[in-house]
Amino acid sequence: MIVSNWKMNGSQSHLEQWIKDVSSNINYKTEVPCVFCPPACYLDSSRQIINQISSKLRLGSQVIDYSQNNALTGGISAEILGDFIVEYVLIGHSEQREHFKEDNSILRLKLNSANKAKISTIFCIGESEELKINDQTKTFLKTQLEILTSEDLGHLTIAYEPIWAIGTGLNAEKNYIEEVHGYIKEQCQLLLDIKENISVLYGGSVNLDNCEEILSLNNVDGLLVGGASLDSDTFSKIYNNS
Ligand code: PGA
Repeated sequence: MIVSNWKMNGSQSHLEQWIKDVSSNINYKTEVPCVFCPPACYLDSSRQIINQISSKLRLGSQVIDYSQNNALTGGISAEILGDFIVEYVLIGHSEQREHFKEDNSILRLKLNSANKAKISTIFCIGESEELKINDQTKTFLKTQLEILTSEDLGHLTIAYEPIWAIGTGLNAEKNYIEEVHGYIKEQCQLLLDIKENISVLYGGSVNLDNCEEILSLNNVDGLLVGGASLDSDTFSKIYNNS
């Protein structure tokens, strides 16, 4: 799976051109979903354009709220996402953990909402630079994974995004990525009592120069791309490398 996370970027005109360009530039492979996560206010027009041009792009949301029936000004429920045929949702992104103070209990409720609506979750985890320096990456990732339950199986992908690599131009070394992804898969098997591997995407300053090497790693099952995905040509080339 190759995912474009636009974060809080873009405009209506950028969106229209981007969807058209990516849809015609990618050599789409059914086994590699190409997922577009625009800001929530663009989900509606994204769906319309995708349908109009019969694009193979799959729609993902950057947000989901867990309160379905209560009053929640500014909230977006799984039910609302269903109107735009949103198939994926990002949960646990480090920017939301930090700025919206999302802790494990909130994230668990969001996972429940996505599960109930049968929206596939891309569950984001990653350590800070300080934890990495202090050799606490694995212990920390384990605490982030521990909220997962067997209820999440069937529509769960993990995205490993070291916080120090997001938007910084810094990349994790390939051996480090391979080791951490292996650890995540192993922990998921233990925690969820499964034999098969959960897919793990890598994210954090992925670009055209490093995508091929990262994708060639055995434990890397795809990419979550932020900044570099804003350019349709770059994102299409990254997808075509998969
Ligand atoms: P980046 O962002 O590619 O700009 O580092 C990735 C992400 O936060 O999903």
